[in-house]
Amino acid sequence: MQRHLDTTLEGAQPGPVDRTEVYRRLNFPRGADHPVRRPYTAVNMVSTVDGKVVAGGPGTTRLIGSDTDHALMSRIELQADCVLLGAGLIRADDPPYPRLSAERQRQREARGLRPQPLWAIVSGAGEFPRLPQALAAGGRTGTALFTTAAMTSTRRETLEEHTRIYVCGTQRVEVPQMGAILRDELGVGSMICLGGPGLNATLIEAGAVDELFLTLAPKLQGGSNVPTLLEGRAYPPEGLPLLELLSLYSEGSELYLRYRLPASAHR
Ligand SMILES: NC(=O)c1ccc[n+]([C@@H]2O[C@H](COP(=O)([O-])OP(=O)(O)OC[C@H]3O[C@@H](n4cnc5c(N)ncnc54)[C@H](OP(=O)(O)O)[C@@H]3O)[C@@H](O)[C@H]2O)c1
Repeated sequence: MQRHLDTTLEGAQPGPVDRTEVYRRLNFPRGADHPVRRPYTAVNMVSTVDGKVVAGGPGTTRLIGSDTDHALMSRIELQADCVLLGAGLIRADDPPYPRLSAERQRQREARGLRPQPLWAIVSGAGEFPRLPQALAAGGRTGTALFTTAAMTSTRRETLEEHTRIYVCGTQRVEVPQMGAILRDELGVGSMICLGGPGLNATLIEAGAVDELFLTLAPKLQGGSNVPTLLEGRAYPPEGLPLLELLSLYSEGSELYLRYRLPASAHR
């Protein structure tokens, strides 16, 4: 791989680097307090060059990025206490909860992280066509579901057998409530949000995202109305938030970008 820029590593020079070195020690801060008390949060997404983050039907998102992208994504995820997932991502791709070796759990603990990551899902009412794999494998200790008062009591009873449920709003999950629960009740200092675009909008609009990891896959998707990494309300043209590039790596024509989000992304 090639390093083009890395402002997070002292003295890092551009040039060839071993793949194992990229995103090896992210050292995320444990918590953020602006604009509300919450875990330090990074969003991690892959898009085509034309900005699309959905490739086709269920299970096809993984076709956007290369094997290197998948490996880097896992490496980023494993350096945080919690992985946050939107219900759309769960319904489309149903990602499995990771089983970590005892050695890997020890390494995480030595770095001040939860030995097993918490996988937390955000959904208005917890409607899934089948029990998400993450809840089936992670269970009540490894997972949580943030939802609203719109969840029926029958649904709640079913899901509570598999996960802990937190009601954080009437119509929408409110980020300040969710952030405080994650940080204070569940001990989450750092969190990686795997999207999708709807959940990214919820967090970014609330000013609750500190960083964005973006893989730009050298592919074109095309198509109208195919989601980009950020749905929700548009920023006014004279007020587009300006991101700061923290690092840039590449392998072949695929780019791995890490940005810091400005406070102006909050609205
Ligand atoms: N390329 C990538 O890196 C990447 C990453 C992730 C996902 N994706 C793709 O993105 C597509 C899914 O897009 P999406 O926007 O539907 O995904 P999403 O962000 O995973 O899910 C949106 C859903 O999350 C829940 N949600 C988000 N904010 C909420 C809030 N404040 N309160 C209550 N619920 C909230 C709602 O669930 P309910 O509908 O249950 O109320 C909402 O419909 C899939 O095709 C997936 O493969 C791509």
